[in-house]
Amino acid sequence: MRLAKLNSFSINIFIILMLCLACKKKIDHKSLKKQKSVMRIEKCYYGTTVDKEEVTLFKLINEGGIYVEVITFGGRVTTIKCPDLQGKMDNVVLGFDSLSQYEKKNPYFGAAVGRYVNRIANGRFSLEGEVYTLAKNNGDNSLHGGLKGFDKVVWIVEEVKETPSFVSVKLAYLSKDMEEGFPGNLQTTVTYTLNNDNSLNIHYEAITDKTTIVNLTNHSYFNLSGDCSNSILDHEVQINANKYVPVNKSLIPTGTLASVEHTPFDFRAAQLLGDVIKNNHEQIEIGDGFDHCWVLNNVSKGYRSVAKAYHSLSGRVLEVLTDQPGMQFYTGNFLDGTLPAPNGGVFNKRSGFCFETQHFPDAPNQPKFPSTTLVPGEKYRTKTTFKFSTKY
Ligand code: BGC
Repeated sequence: MRLAKLNSFSINIFIILMLCLACKKKIDHKSLKKQKSVMRIEKCYYGTTVDKEEVTLFKLINEGGIYVEVITFGGRVTTIKCPDLQGKMDNVVLGFDSLSQYEKKNPYFGAAVGRYVNRIANGRFSLEGEVYTLAKNNGDNSLHGGLKGFDKVVWIVEEVKETPSFVSVKLAYLSKDMEEGFPGNLQTTVTYTLNNDNSLNIHYEAITDKTTIVNLTNHSYFNLSGDCSNSILDHEVQINANKYVPVNKSLIPTGTLASVEHTPFDFRAAQLLGDVIKNNHEQIEIGDGFDHCWVLNNVSKGYRSVAKAYHSLSGRVLEVLTDQPGMQFYTGNFLDGTLPAPNGGVFNKRSGFCFETQHFPDAPNQPKFPSTTLVPGEKYRTKTTFKFSTKY
């Protein structure tokens, strides 16, 4: 009888103990989830510009813990941390560790570039019978929006969204009529959205009150090894393009579109960058590497997958999707070891590559290229996605 009592007593104690353990497990699990994997945005003060404007940093974090940092100065992506095959998180874009470095002359690291990305020959174009003159900030040409393009202004925060499946920050900038020589007040927004499938969408919109030209992109330099002291030559690159835009010695389009067939510009099947870039080809010599716009296939399909990069040592894969007709593939040819990297080193030649989705360079002077003209009443809208994954 006593034994039976004791037994039922110990059974009760056992059940209580188990319940406590289960509860604790639940609580631990919950708090862990909260700490590690809640989709969210964190925000902090980043610095003050020389013109006394405050700059904010937004950290977009997804459930997998991947995060993207964006600052309001130049709408720049300063960090993209994503895992390698072993789950090790590293930053896969080049960037500085202070606002003052971003304010100094630099190669547009992570920037929202506008009003016209890439080159406009002789800093001049005409529109509706008017000739417009732009600042020449690249030899005789205008590059990436001029002396003070969208990469060097502080954008206004228009909207921040936190949802269970995505987080986003929308930045706005009003480029005034004749700013940098471009006609029309251009109201521009760029929205960065991080999703749970590890994709970062970049969505631009713009409207104008006078006919103008627009060509916007993001100028992130990727290094999928996660260490900017490594060269990108061990990356494999694939671009869905049958043609590219050949250029003259000042990197201005010659006006023709050339076939990639039987040339080192053929990335329709993945190529190891280090193998291809050493080819003797006049166009590679001109650019001192690749610095060309590829004519992306299937433009009529709109938003589609256009390119991939793969780094076999880390297993990281970057896929690009866009609705744009072109993509400038730039292999960091002008990085010359003079700019300081946050790890104490410097940014060397070929320490990063850019996949700049865009319209073709110098389109305002090239009647055969797709038009970059925006008229009042029309909305410029474009979307590009950088999607990160891993594979063996
Ligand atoms: C251009 C390069 C230029 C780099 C940094 C790229 O988009 O194509 O020629 O050096 O940006 O300005």
